[in-house]
Amino acid sequence: MAERASQIAGHLNYPKGLLAGQVAIITGSGQGIGAEAARLFANEGARVVISDIDAAKAKGVAESINKSGGNAIAVVGDMLDAEYLKTLVKKAVDFGNGKINIIVNNAGYTWDGVIHKMTDKQWDNIIALHNTAPFKLVREAAPYFRVTDGEPRCIINISSTSGVHGNAGQANYSLAKSGINGLTKTIAKEWGPKFGVRANSIAFGHILTRLTAAKEDGAFVTTPDGETIALGIPKGQGSQSTDANLDIPLRRAGTATEAASSILMLASPLSSYITGQVIMVTGGRNI
Ligand SMILES: NC(=O)c1ccc[n+]([C@@H]2O[C@H](COP(=O)([O-])OP(=O)(O)OC[C@H]3O[C@@H](n4cnc5c(N)ncnc54)[C@H](O)[C@@H]3O)[C@@H](O)[C@H]2O)c1
Repeated sequence: MAERASQIAGHLNYPKGLLAGQVAIITGSGQGIGAEAARLFANEGARVVISDIDAAKAKGVAESINKSGGNAIAVVGDMLDAEYLKTLVKKAVDFGNGKINIIVNNAGYTWDGVIHKMTDKQWDNIIALHNTAPFKLVREAAPYFRVTDGEPRCIINISSTSGVHGNAGQANYSLAKSGINGLTKTIAKEWGPKFGVRANSIAFGHILTRLTAAKEDGAFVTTPDGETIALGIPKGQGSQSTDANLDIPLRRAGTATEAASSILMLASPLSSYITGQVIMVTGGRNI
């Protein structure tokens, strides 16, 4: 009887959730898809490192997770700063008692322009943010992924339909979002055989965040040298046009929560045999 009671007590104390006990870094999780992923991961028992350049938003997400019984810290900094990437890994390892299970490379924005008008700066900035920074973060975290302790580990890189199909006005972003898929497959091949690390990309279509909202809403980011980049799509164009969703079989954009749910799906044990893939989360667009 006592044994049964202690079994039940033990069961009750056991961490619950699809990601119970796992430690996750999610970049760009101060808002949008990343913030929703952080909340979903925390609900499933993960300890979540909220990484973002926006201090107030990153801290706000961490606080709201902690208030609702989850476990999160905010580590604020710029993905374009190589020193920040080292700090991020170090703080994640301290928070995670020596381990990291999941990295979601999600931070990013678009800086559009047609090919013949795109500047070197536009080009270099977007490649640095969507390719070089994720690579450097994964390389920095390598000692915590190249281990044979039997724990689940995975990398999820956020891509885009622009990286799979190309998109007019997005030569820089299309190249970068295609490039990240090559990195994903290489991680799967290098770290799968011995360490069991899975790596997948998710190519999102039209997801409702400030990146696809009206440019006239006024959202912006600032480059390291102080240049302001307006975010969003001008009214009447692309995701802001009246027929924006006509080529989407579900005839609507996805929510940030729906997008984040696919990140959770790939991080979870339900995807334990899925690696090296580019999963399209688009409402069926481009089929
Ligand atoms: N929204 C869409 O329709 C869509 C479609 C395809 C792909 N994506 C990709 O999804 C990811 C998330 O985008 P979102 O729509 O949630 O955008 P978002 O702007 O809502 O969130 C992105 C977050 O990244 C952070 N960030 C940007 N640059 C950073 C830097 N240098 N260092 C640290 N943090 C930085 C921002 O502060 C922001 O909090 C991006 O990689 C984006 O390219 C989005």
